[in-house]
Amino acid sequence: MAVTQFNPTCSKTHLHSSQLPFLSRTLPRHRHCTIAPLHRTQQARICCSVAPNEVQVPAVKTSDPKSKPECYGVFCLTYDLRAEEETRSWKKLINIAVSGAAGMIANHLLFKLASGEVFGPDQPIALKLLGSERSIQALEGVAMELEDSLFPLLREVSIGIDPYEVFQDAEWALLIGAKPRGPGMERADLLDINGQIYAAQGRALNAVASRNVKVIVVGNPCNTNALICLKNAPNIPAKNFHALTRLDENRAKCQLALKAGVFYDKVSNVTIWGNHSTTQVPDFLNARIDGLPVKEVVKDQKWLEEEFTEKVQKRGGALIQKWGRSSAASTSVSIVDAIRSLVTPTPEGDWFSSGVYSDGNPYGIAEGIVFSMPCRSKGDGDYELVKDVIFDDYLQQRIAKV
Ligand code: LMR
Repeated sequence: MAVTQFNPTCSKTHLHSSQLPFLSRTLPRHRHCTIAPLHRTQQARICCSVAPNEVQVPAVKTSDPKSKPECYGVFCLTYDLRAEEETRSWKKLINIAVSGAAGMIANHLLFKLASGEVFGPDQPIALKLLGSERSIQALEGVAMELEDSLFPLLREVSIGIDPYEVFQDAEWALLIGAKPRGPGMERADLLDINGQIYAAQGRALNAVASRNVKVIVVGNPCNTNALICLKNAPNIPAKNFHALTRLDENRAKCQLALKAGVFYDKVSNVTIWGNHSTTQVPDFLNARIDGLPVKEVVKDQKWLEEEFTEKVQKRGGALIQKWGRSSAASTSVSIVDAIRSLVTPTPEGDWFSSGVYSDGNPYGIAEGIVFSMPCRSKGDGDYELVKDVIFDDYLQQRIAKV
């Protein structure tokens, strides 16, 4: 049976930022949730949705008070799960940092991460949520909802507005936070403001994240932001940075499936070449439907070159017109897909698209940029570029125009 430990002396506590790294350490096989808004320049404040006097459970004093960070309310509870059959085989806790954590994309994503559907049912996680001064209240609300969801794999939640503290020891950094584009804007219009955010976050990752952190840049324009981020993080391999083009791949698969009258899962080998922008090239030459080249199933070259391509390129804008804001749920699903593609082996013969650093690519694409290309993974978080793709004049010319 689980032992519940509670430190009744905890109260609303102020911590100095030097104490905060301690908050993110969690003993193996203990479930421990801490919500700690972190701020580099001000004193950090521990908060949660439950006041200490509202905790009614029988409490057991922690034998070694130093073994637990200061906290109060429900986050002071530690469940000793060592005896539990299920948790004994769990993997070591991983730290996942998410920026823009109070936004709509994150609101979909965080609950998927915490449920285990992304990293697996035996992978406990700590969520480190980065917001802004303006969003800190909302971020507390997010943390409260995570708390209310009773996710067994979610051991720890910390929230803050300083990337140097939130990114501490991060093994995954999902960088969503950015100004979104509105109706009538192009993603490139966001470069000035979002470029600065990603430069700062790159520096923070470089200083405090795990040396092998995997970074997925979602905020637009994501290819350029990913490049800015990696250039500001010289101590982290450039190969570890990704710009999210999986959403475009998913959109392309959907359109091909619709046209061919097949279900999505029959569509494979779809590459998005280039940027997550209207210049991207959804590759129907190498794509397959039910194992056959798309062109053998969809015998309508004009549709493929014009309607299909444009629909995928402009899908984000079309959604903004409908919603009055940019896509959120499907973006979060594509982040999940992008991570899962890196942590599970790619099915034989297939691949996935990701915006990655172009150095050493076998396709003749300019070096030193972030460009979406076909990748395969062994499931170890890393990837390699796929070599056996074919090019025709049309594809080559379109890629050259990106
Ligand atoms: C999308 O493609 O839906 C997002 O990048 C949002 C946008 O600006 O289009």
